[in-house]
This record gives sequence, structure tokens and C-alpha cells, in this order.
Amino acid sequence: MATANHWFSPNMSTPTVIVALHHAQTQLQATSASPRLDAELILAHLLGTSRTRLILIHHQPLTDTVAIAFAAAVAQRGLGVPIAYLTHHREFYGFDFYVDQRVLVPRPETELLVEIARHAALHMGAHTIVDIGTGSGCIALSLAMHAAAPHIVAVDISADALAVATINRKRLNPPVSVDLVHGDLCTMLRPAPVIISNPPYTLIDDIDANVRQHEPHMALIGGGDDGADYYRRLAALLPSHLARPGVFACEIDPRQAAIVSALLQEALPDAHVSVSDDLAGWARVVRAAIG
Ligand SMILES: C[S@@+](CC[C@H](N)C(=O)[O-])C[C@H]1O[C@@H](n2cnc3c(N)ncnc32)[C@H](O)[C@@H]1O
Repeated sequence: MATANHWFSPNMSTPTVIVALHHAQTQLQATSASPRLDAELILAHLLGTSRTRLILIHHQPLTDTVAIAFAAAVAQRGLGVPIAYLTHHREFYGFDFYVDQRVLVPRPETELLVEIARHAALHMGAHTIVDIGTGSGCIALSLAMHAAAPHIVAVDISADALAVATINRKRLNPPVSVDLVHGDLCTMLRPAPVIISNPPYTLIDDIDANVRQHEPHMALIGGGDDGADYYRRLAALLPSHLARPGVFACEIDPRQAAIVSALLQEALPDAHVSVSDDLAGWARVVRAAIG
């Protein structure tokens, strides 16, 4: 007899697409805000098709292999595993990124940092952009796809994250060079005119339980009472690593706008420091420009 968690077992006749989706949706109702969408995304991924094409094959029976894999992935989703880790896809800035448990799932609010870096680099005619804490490579590669500078350097301290960024660099094949560098912040790099970062900035107690359980802590936890330790380290590096003219921009938690602005102003006393809001109206990026 199928249970809520195991609605398919190999000794059952395989369900059709529509029946499998119905069971999965029912199973995910308690834990997901979008149970139907989740089920469709997972099944489309396993069938190697698009979500919209599922309707055309809705009476087709699944193979045993797909039905078993689908049941397993739906169970994982029920435990809070991000959908992007199950489908290995995440759209960011209009590009399709490969993601898995080795990297933070790119968030839509981070697209603002790409916009600001792209604008700054084009305006300055910057030869290099440095992205610190690149993770999946979503920021650096989005900039590279738009040829925001002829040379992009993406750093991460996690060799696992760099392996994922390498997959994305190969898949996207950007028109400008993207160096993926293993290291601590920008300590090993020469001065660059545009430096950006979405560093770990969250306090462990503020992290959503599912995020805390499934996404890499090295990508999330900022350190210090205010989660701002990475900004302190970055600010200390800027006088020697940001070229003149130059722009540094970083993503923040909205509550960190004042502390991060003050850190950057103290590190670069002649900088023009400003804060930009994301589309939801939250302070999201702090920018420091020096002449
Ligand atoms: C918040 S995630 C950002 C990932 C990606 N840039 C994005 O926006 O989705 C922070 C990243 O910083 C990396 N990181 C943590 N400490 C670092 C350090 N000391 N030097 C370089 N990268 C670091 C983590 O491995 C992680 O990939």
C-alpha cells in the first residue's frame, strides 16, 4: 500500500505523468508554498523536457526508473531541499546556472549587484572586475556574458564552489576571460578598478531552518555579533586593493546598511558611499566610489 511518503514502489504499476504529479502535489502540500510547481519542475527535469510540455504527455506512463527517481526527489523536496538542488538549474540574470549542494542557490535580489557592477565597469571602461566569494559564479559569469569588462576574476575560498563555477563557465562560454581563483578574499590579487562581493553576512539564528539545513554554512554565516565580519575584512583590504578610480560594491542584509556604509567610509575617507534598494524596497547594495 502506498503511503504519503512512498506513493510509488517498484511493485506497483507505473503512474502516468498526471497521476504522478497529483500524488506529488498532495505530498508536498504541507511543506511547500508551491507544491504543484515544485512537482512539475522536478518531473520535467527527470524527463528532460520543459514544464509546459508536461501537459502534452500527461497520459504517458512513467518508466520505473523515472517513477522511482521522482518519488525520491519529491521526498527530498518534502524535507526542504531547495528545488534548484533537485533540478540542478537556477535562472539568474537571464542565464541558466548549474547548482548543487556545494554552492548557495543564487537569489534574485543579488541581480542588483550585477546591475551596479555592470554600470560602474562600463562607465569607467574598467579593464578588470573582481568578484569575491563567487560561489556558482552567477555574478561574475553574468557580467562576463555581457562583456562588462575584458577580464573578470572570480575568487572563492571553497574549492567545491569553484568546481561548480567551472561547470558554469564551460556551459555559458562567455565572450570575455573569466579566471576562477582559489583564495581568501582578494588578498592574492593586484589592485582592480571594480571589486564586488556578496559575502557571507547572515547570523546563524536569522537563517531559515531549511536554508540552514541544506545550503553551505561557509556561504551564509557572516561572523561577529552583527554578521559584518566579512565587510570588516574587505574594508581593511580596499585601500591597497581598489585601484583609483575605483568602485567597490557589496550585497548586504538591509539591517547592515549603516554599519557597512560606515566601514567603507572609514576605510576610504574620500569615497562617495551610497546605498541602493532592491526591487522589494530593501537596502541591498552598498557602493563606495573613489576618484
Ligand atoms: C553568499 S555566498 C555568494 C555566492 C554567489 N556569489 C552568489 O551571489 O550567489 C558567499 C561565497 O563566499 C565564499 N567565501 C566565504 N569565505 C570566503 C573567503 N574568505 N574568501 C573568498 N570566498 C569566501 C563562500 O564559499 C561562498 O561561495
